Amino acid sequence: SPSDPDLVERARAAKEKLGDKVFVLGHHYQRDEVIQFADVTGDSFKLARDAAARPEAEYIVFCGVHFMAESADILTSDDQKVVLPDLAAGCSMADMATAEQVAECWDVLTEAGVAEQVVPVSYMNSSADIKAFTGKHGGTICTSSNAKRALDWAFEQGEKVLFLPDQHLGRNTAVRDMGMSLDDCVVYNPHKPNGGLTADELRAAKMILWRGHCSVHGRFSLDSVNDVRERIPGVNVLVHPECKHEVVAAADYVGSTEYIIKALEAAPAGSKWAIGTELNLVRRLANRFAPEGKEIVFLDKTVCFCSTMNRIDLPHLVWALESLAEGNLVNRIEVDKETEAFAKLALERMLALP
Ligand code: 13P
Ligand code: SF4
Repeated sequence: SPSDPDLVERARAAKEKLGDKVFVLGHHYQRDEVIQFADVTGDSFKLARDAAARPEAEYIVFCGVHFMAESADILTSDDQKVVLPDLAAGCSMADMATAEQVAECWDVLTEAGVAEQVVPVSYMNSSADIKAFTGKHGGTICTSSNAKRALDWAFEQGEKVLFLPDQHLGRNTAVRDMGMSLDDCVVYNPHKPNGGLTADELRAAKMILWRGHCSVHGRFSLDSVNDVRERIPGVNVLVHPECKHEVVAAADYVGSTEYIIKALEAAPAGSKWAIGTELNLVRRLANRFAPEGKEIVFLDKTVCFCSTMNRIDLPHLVWALESLAEGNLVNRIEVDKETEAFAKLALERMLALP
């Protein structure tokens, strides 16, 4: 939908007034009306690095969700302030693993006598508390673009991985990229006593997957893949690794949002693509590549935006920028010092991955 011209002008004016003091980061799932004001766009890995590479900016306005703003705060200096234009922009997947639940899980692993062999690998899509837990126990963070490298590293440190909170990214990476079998993976359910697993099951497993998922990517099914192949002969199916294993197994290509964009940039004219990821990004790519004769459709028949990503809209961005321009620091995301120190350890292990 076209942006309100008055709001566009106000955002532009506030940004101009702030000049180099502000740096605006935009995740690929953000609305067009917001993305137009991003100084840089990217997947969560690229944005974490870009935030860290802007020491001169006093304000980092993060157009994305809460865990991304926390990561930016952890990776930037103490006098840089990270602002999330709407504090209600969370992530349902990140909320599926709380600090209490993960501490309890570690007790279960200790009880079963396996904790010493376990290296935690946590997806970027997790709270700062979970990242701190990961750092404290010798683990690393990963994103959808480096999950295999993170697992390779983790299996050099120990025999088992506790992967949280996205069971699908964990399973897909283990089976598709690392040659493990589905039987090497067990699912730890934080809502069941002992995670719903016996000590024997924990001892036999290589991958202990936390029972979390993305509700947006969880909507794609094997039917969506079969339907689109029937509707569009010759279509290439390209999905994000947060999709269920059966969807990933049936797809032609799998990768992060950044990978998806690069694949479409490299695609020949006349090729047809069905994309299984968030709809703002798919629509933007469909519009961008249509003039080059690339046909890009959304993988499912129903629409599927990430509702929390969408909370960052132009009115919220204008409000945040105008407040900053008037000297009011609003919606700051600040991780406490102790959490930050351990979370940073885990994030830095990720940034140092080969
Ligand atoms: P990436 O941008 O790392 O592919 O992650 C997708 C996502 O769901 C972010 O919330
Ligand atoms: Fe979280 Fe999924 Fe939305 Fe990404 S798309 S922010 S994982 S709910």
